[in-house]
Amino acid sequence: MKQLQVAIDGPAGAGKSTVARRVAGRLGLSYVDTGAMYRAIAWKALQENLNVFDEEAVTQLAEQLHFSLHPQGVMVNGQLLKEEIRTQEISSLASAIAKMPGVRRILVNKQRDIAARQSVVMDGRDIGTHVLPEADVKVFLTATIEERALRRYKELKARGADVDLDGLREEIRRRDENDRTRKYAPLKQAKDAVLIDTTHLSIDEIVESIMQLCRHKLGGGE
Ligand code: CDP
Ligand code: CDP
Repeated sequence: MKQLQVAIDGPAGAGKSTVARRVAGRLGLSYVDTGAMYRAIAWKALQENLNVFDEEAVTQLAEQLHFSLHPQGVMVNGQLLKEEIRTQEISSLASAIAKMPGVRRILVNKQRDIAARQSVVMDGRDIGTHVLPEADVKVFLTATIEERALRRYKELKARGADVDLDGLREEIRRRDENDRTRKYAPLKQAKDAVLIDTTHLSIDEIVESIMQLCRHKLGGGE
């Protein structure tokens, strides 16, 4: 099979990781959750009692970490990280850390190394614009902030977390703004990405749309 790179970007709660994982499963490609890499650095910095706003220390930490893929998430130095990196605290810290140019440079290199070794479905904020500008398929997922906050609320509630919808909406709004306005590799739709508004779409419908784009590519269409 022809090697494929599928890039899926968009704001928080748009459905990126859920659909990226499914598309990867359907096509037999590796799934790379780049957000989990930023989250992992934030988590590790807290574990090691680092000042998460000390750019030099955090950049050094990013350099030292070894990331590997696992079907259920991302492994950092051999440890599978799951729900511990999905808290609101880690979301906000990851967004602050993601502004640091040194951290971005290191992670982008690691992400490109992963994609050089295998076919991937990679999701994040800057995949189509910066990490894999030559990706075969580029998708930009969006949904209203109300819908995205509600999705995240239900997800966290189902995990038994104590969450408040207004607080969550505000955290997502602030994080989106940070991601859209940062100087280095901000969140934005690549010129050649297909925009999918997921507000009223089910997960299956989004997956099917992306699969159609991939089949078109695999079939040699333009
Ligand atoms: O799952 P959710 O969309 O809420 O967030 P995520 O994809 O896990 O990413 C967490 C944070 O990492 C984002 O708010 C961004 O600040 C940052 N990030 C980034 O800057 N670039 C990426 N390629 C992926 C994530
Ligand atoms: O990765 P991203 O932050 O873009 O979103 P996600 O983590 O894939 O999706 C956030 C939540 O919304 C998950 O619990 C998904 O199952 C849910 N979701 C949904 O209910 N309907 C959709 N059309 C897309 C996602």
